[in-house]
Amino acid sequence: MTDPLHDPLFFRDPYSTYDRLRSASPVQKIPTGSRGHHAYLVTGHAEARQAFTDPRLSKDAARFFAGRPSGRDLHPAVARNMLASDPPGHTRQRAAAAPLFTTGPVGGMRPYISQVVDRLLDGWAQGAEVDLVKGLAVPLPVTVICQLLGVPESDRDMVSRWSNDLFDADDPDIIDAASHAVGEYMTDLVGAARDTPGEGVLPALFQRGEAGLLDEDDVTSLAVLLLVAGHETTTHFIGNSVLALLQHPSSLARLRRDPGLIAGSLDELLRYDSPVGIATFRYSTEALELGGVEIPAGFPVLIAPGAANRDPLPFADPQRLDLDRNAGGHLAFGHGIHRCLGAPLARAEAEIALRALVTRFPGLRLAVPEEELEWRRTRLTRGLRSLPVVL
Ligand code: HEM
Repeated sequence: MTDPLHDPLFFRDPYSTYDRLRSASPVQKIPTGSRGHHAYLVTGHAEARQAFTDPRLSKDAARFFAGRPSGRDLHPAVARNMLASDPPGHTRQRAAAAPLFTTGPVGGMRPYISQVVDRLLDGWAQGAEVDLVKGLAVPLPVTVICQLLGVPESDRDMVSRWSNDLFDADDPDIIDAASHAVGEYMTDLVGAARDTPGEGVLPALFQRGEAGLLDEDDVTSLAVLLLVAGHETTTHFIGNSVLALLQHPSSLARLRRDPGLIAGSLDELLRYDSPVGIATFRYSTEALELGGVEIPAGFPVLIAPGAANRDPLPFADPQRLDLDRNAGGHLAFGHGIHRCLGAPLARAEAEIALRALVTRFPGLRLAVPEEELEWRRTRLTRGLRSLPVVL
């Protein structure tokens, strides 16, 4: 067997691969990469939920790679963060950051999000052809997260490029360089926020630091994590949702007639084409059994929300987009202690963007045949390189 997650066809249509693998076994050992490494891939919904909460699956990548020749030179603020740590370190950082991202404070961001969406769409003329990814899905999340972190407008393109390189570059040297650039930038930004307290997430995190919850390195690595985690994921949420609606004109027409239904449709859109195909790194600290499969100690375990969300066991007829379905049990935001911190923010951005699109541009349609759409070639996230539409 070759690495099934590296086939060019996988990036265009991961779902047939996921289905084939899940039908064989909801948990299985697969080759990863070309150097003879293996990992366990979790494609079943029940098994993925269980894996997300199993304390024997560690997120502490530094501990796993210690003593192994990884060849990587990541900035410490990138290499060590809440998403790459276990309790009690994770618990402390999460407790400090979580209150800033609940629906209450995110509700306060809605007018700003609407303003950014309006500004982006104001330049678009009815009937024109635009790239919805470049024109809306990319700039919206980066503008919002930079605003929250206090990144000045003049620096946002640069910061966005580093974040993209961290996620997307094939060349390890480019990833390492981006990690140092963004790590050093955030160290300075956090230092400035400490010296001149004001509004925003960083000063708020510092106040929690004073309460003994975080130190300055924690605040810096949290800032980097917030920037990177909320960026490409939300881009793909918007892009994949718009594509799904264009492929299902009656669902699109319903949302256009009644935009009040958009908020309640977001879970099904997240389930149907999940922006995170495969969750971040975990490994087994001891032998365990999952879905009837023995996983020995010391193996990477890949949990695939993209596959779990198309599992026919909890979701009847899973390949069908059905806005009336109760899709609340989807795993697009993960599950357990690392469940996405930014889910309310991502939902608010997607809801406001979709509402503006469907109400302003009633004739919205694809500008190219579907087969010509290009997907990003990463297995972590699933999203389009571009989405040409006619307005
Ligand atoms: C639709 C958009 C998004 C999706 C699909 C998404 C998905 C996820 C997933 C699957 C995880 C868990 C990863 C794992 O356990 O391996 C996660 C964690 C996280 N996400 Fe999101 N995310 C999105 C948007 C955001 C935004 C906007 C932010 C920032 C404000 C954010 C911040 C985080 C953070 C900080 C974590 C780590 C939480 C922890 O370790 O406790 N995400 N996200």
